Amino acid sequence: MNKILIDLKNINKTYDGQMVLDDLNLYIRENEFLTLLGPSGCGKTTTLRILGGFEMPDTGKVIFDGTDITKLPPNKRQLNTVFQKYALFTHMTIAENIAFGLKIKNKSQSYIDDKIKYALKLVNLDGYEKRMPDSLSGGQQQRIAIARAIVNEPKVLLLDEPLGALDLKLRQDMQYELIRLKNELGITFIYVTHDQEEALTMSDTIVVMNQGYIQQIGTPEKIYNEPENAFVADFIGDSNIISSIMIEDKLVDILGTRFPCVDTGFGCNKPVDVVIRPEDVILSDPGCGKINGVVTHLIFKGVHYEMEVTAAGYEWLVHSTSMFPVGTKVGINVDPFNIQIMNKPASEDEEAVGINE
Ligand SMILES: Nc1ncnc2c1ncn2[C@@H]1O[C@H](COP(=O)(O)OP(=O)(O)OP(=O)(O)O)[C@@H](O)[C@H]1O
Ligand SMILES: [Mg+2]
Repeated sequence: MNKILIDLKNINKTYDGQMVLDDLNLYIRENEFLTLLGPSGCGKTTTLRILGGFEMPDTGKVIFDGTDITKLPPNKRQLNTVFQKYALFTHMTIAENIAFGLKIKNKSQSYIDDKIKYALKLVNLDGYEKRMPDSLSGGQQQRIAIARAIVNEPKVLLLDEPLGALDLKLRQDMQYELIRLKNELGITFIYVTHDQEEALTMSDTIVVMNQGYIQQIGTPEKIYNEPENAFVADFIGDSNIISSIMIEDKLVDILGTRFPCVDTGFGCNKPVDVVIRPEDVILSDPGCGKINGVVTHLIFKGVHYEMEVTAAGYEWLVHSTSMFPVGTKVGINVDPFNIQIMNKPASEDEEAVGINE
């Protein structure tokens, strides 16, 4: 496993007396693609700005490769940032924009010309050298901002929602390009998005944040399949989150019916939250499932049908490649290993911390 490159230790940040980051602890390994994921206002950009040196934490430390860089200015850090609001120099051509950092480093003109060509090709904008930023669309400007950061070959690239302005096809192309860059150049990526699908596709590690707290840290598979609390489960894709009672190890009461499950260690007769993904709800003939219900909604989604099934007083969200028309009586089954048990939070904004090992 690669060594730890960046370590954020006990970071606190308030604005006007309001807590924005609350004792944030996070480390990032060399060559890792780590994504900060969470709803608007949860503190993603603030975390990135502290990493980049554009903001000082109230307390806590930023350690880079073993050295405390908390007070080091941005230009002295081996990091490059692509901001949420791309800031191109409007009085310079695209080529001059991309060349800016390299000129400061006194690189030769032929080196710079090669780099500009390479970077423009990479972001699919060959031939745009002489254009001015104002003459580019928002998405094109954002791609220039990425090109400008990449030519500096930083050790770490901080990207704040860099693909937000792009259309779906281009966004997918750029996702692929960014992953390729990471692998080719060995750069460590710290990426910010509020798009869970983007986070799941691109990341080695996902950090789910809410209201200045880290809710869970893990691989995309872990976050998706084993969310640690209802917030994570709800934020990462569609879910059935059902208030239930853990009867004993490997047995849970869901809506008055006992389901075998695989989880242990939750105690006896304890209130828990159960997460069941819509694709894991198995529909059968009525009487052949554990609970009986009736289909109340049906939408064709292309790859699958999305249905709502009312059963035991709960609206179950179901994804299936089989179609059950509205009004069909069905049975509901769930395999034990597709029932994910979570502790109920003690309070609304309780912190649930995972460890990225
Ligand atoms: N300079 C500032 N002064 C005062 N409050 C700020 C400042 N910067 C950020 N905040 C507040 O801190 C909180 C976190 O902001 P931040 O920009 O980190 O959120 P975010 O997760 O990046 O959200 P988004 O997805 O909308 O970009 C917000 O409530 C925001 O209003
Ligand atoms: Mg932001």
